[in-house]
Amino acid sequence: MSSPYLNLKVVEITRETADAATIHFEHPQKQKIDYKPGQFLTLILPIEGKEVRRSYSLCSTPHEAPRLSVTVKRVEGGLVSNYLLDTLQVGQEVKVMEPLGNFCLTCAPANQRQVLLFGAGSGITPLMSILKAVLHEEPNSKVTLLYGNSNEDSVIFKEQLQQLEANYPERLHVVYIYSQPKQACDYRGRMNQSMIIRILERLQLAKISNGVYFMCGPEGMMEEVRHALDVLHVPADQIFRESFVSTKLQDKQQQDQHGTVVSSEDDGGITTQTVTVIYEGTEYSFVVEPDQTILEAALEQDIDLPYSCQAGLCTACRGKCLSGKVHLEEREGLSDAEMEEGYTLNCVGHPLTPNVVIEIG
Ligand SMILES: Cc1cc2nc3c(=O)[nH]c(=O)nc-3n(C[C@H](O)[C@H](O)[C@H](O)COP(=O)(O)OP(=O)(O)OC[C@H]3O[C@@H](n4cnc5c(N)ncnc54)[C@H](O)[C@@H]3O)c2cc1C
Ligand code: FES
Repeated sequence: MSSPYLNLKVVEITRETADAATIHFEHPQKQKIDYKPGQFLTLILPIEGKEVRRSYSLCSTPHEAPRLSVTVKRVEGGLVSNYLLDTLQVGQEVKVMEPLGNFCLTCAPANQRQVLLFGAGSGITPLMSILKAVLHEEPNSKVTLLYGNSNEDSVIFKEQLQQLEANYPERLHVVYIYSQPKQACDYRGRMNQSMIIRILERLQLAKISNGVYFMCGPEGMMEEVRHALDVLHVPADQIFRESFVSTKLQDKQQQDQHGTVVSSEDDGGITTQTVTVIYEGTEYSFVVEPDQTILEAALEQDIDLPYSCQAGLCTACRGKCLSGKVHLEEREGLSDAEMEEGYTLNCVGHPLTPNVVIEIG
């Protein structure tokens, strides 16, 4: 099996807005790295004496090879986003995991479809990759992007989008929505269900049968999109979503803001257990304490299991539970079908029984 790790060189850094920049990478030997539009890269960085990993969606598309680009938005107090925006330099090499993720689109030149994208803030990044891929690879498909931002200055990729709209006037339409606009605008406020329906009706996209729908942004926005698509009877298998932050974390942030206390469900059933993980032909058995996830326990034993977001979102740590029972703190990354087939996420998984065996790969 080839190594899932690569070293990429930073070849350019482009400032997008006051708090976001695009980092362009290339393989030092200009080797082409395979990925699908919408997938993400995991950066592995030595910061403050520790190796830290964070996922960043690729905003580039495969046809831009050998370049791969990610766009990072500053998170207040955030370890990695601030490091990348303030410290990273052109010429530096960064260790990454090869691209991963299921939030992606496979293009085919014969397709004739409506690709509808819903994004807000940094959630534009994977949508940008998908948008460029469709324009480049599906000459008979059209793309509509509903793009929410606080104001005109916080729009990531504004010039690129304007240029693309000029290049593809019949095939790309971007609708900007501002919650706190500085100037008069068509759509003011947060992207909500009624606004989405109104926009789609106005664009004659409310009753189509060849649509495919991708959303990425804050949980609240994605809920609104989901409700709007439900009202319009869009089949669930045509809808795809990507979260950058786990719902558990968002719930916690809301509780912190509101000062309420909630009980952590199922924690009472989690006790110390020995778990067996089979990875690349080797069997590892190790003890998992109740306050640890399976991944945390493995890493503490220097067992180099694959992982990225550590939040149950990206599926880099996915394995199949061959026996025993595992409790997941977060299951955003797994579909119902995957759960039923026994797939689990080690970064948010706790063994509930003594006989847990997980196979990765
Ligand atoms: C699949 C995937 C793709 C992603 N793609 C992108 C991308 O294209 N561009 C991008 O900028 N980020 C992206 N992210 C988010 C990114 O991985 C980091 O979580 C983010 O940069 C914050 O990391 P940090 O180390 O700066 O903050 P941390 O030190 O991890 O966190 C600091 C504080 O900020 C909060 N926080 C963490 N992340 C966010 C967030 N996204 N929004 C608001 N609060 C947050 C935490 O709860 C914590 O309180 C993606 C995440 C995933 C899972
Ligand atoms: S490391 Fe991302 S889902 Fe576990």
